[in-house]
Amino acid sequence: MRRLIYRSTASPGLDRVEMFRLVYQARVSNEARGLCGFLIQIEDRIFQVLEGKTWKLVATFENIRRDPRHFGVEVLDERCVDDAAFASWRMRYFDGRNIPRMLAQITDAAGGNVPPLVQHAILEFLGPELILPIMEPAAKTTPPAVPLRPEAALPSSPRPC
Ligand SMILES: Cc1cc2nc3c(=O)[nH]c(=O)nc-3n(C[C@H](O)[C@H](O)[C@H](O)COP(=O)(O)O)c2cc1C
Repeated sequence: MRRLIYRSTASPGLDRVEMFRLVYQARVSNEARGLCGFLIQIEDRIFQVLEGKTWKLVATFENIRRDPRHFGVEVLDERCVDDAAFASWRMRYFDGRNIPRMLAQITDAAGGNVPPLVQHAILEFLGPELILPIMEPAAKTTPPAVPLRPEAALPSSPRPC
C-alpha cells in the first residue's frame, strides 16, 4: 500500500463545473482501481492525498501528473504505508469554504488518527492565514480563575517547604 501527497495549480479552464466532472470521473476510476483519498481546492491551489496499491497508484499518478487541467505538480511525500487512512473516500472533494468542518471530516475519516505527515502537509498547504482565524478563538478564551502557581510548571523541581 502506498500514499502520495502532492500539490499543484489548477489550469484556467478548470472551473467549478469541470472540477466536479473531474472528481466524479476520478471516483469511478478510483473505485475500479482500489484507490482512495481526498482533494482540497482553494481558489486555484490543489492538494491531493492518494492511497492504494503501489502499481495502481503509480500508474494513475503518471496520468494525473501529465493532466493539462493542472500544472506545477509538486510531490510533497510518497511512501509505503500499512493501511489506507482514507479508505472510505473514493475521492472526497473539499472546496476549502469551511476549513474547521473539513478538518473535522478528515479526522473522522481517518478514525481520529490522521497520519502526522498528512496533518503537516495539510497545515502547510492551508498556511497561517487560513489556520490562524480558526485558532484565535481558543487563544482568546479567558484565563482560568485560579492562576497557575509558577512551581506547577516545574514538575521535577522539589516542592517548596
Ligand atoms: C487535480 C487532478 C486530480 C485527479 N485525480 C484523479 C484521481 O484521483 N483518480 C483518477 O483516476 N484520475 C484523477 N485525475 C484524472 C487523471 O489525470 C486522468 O485523467 C485519469 O486518470 C485518466 O483515467 P483513464 O485512464 O480511466 O482514462 C485527476 C486529474 C487532476 C487534474
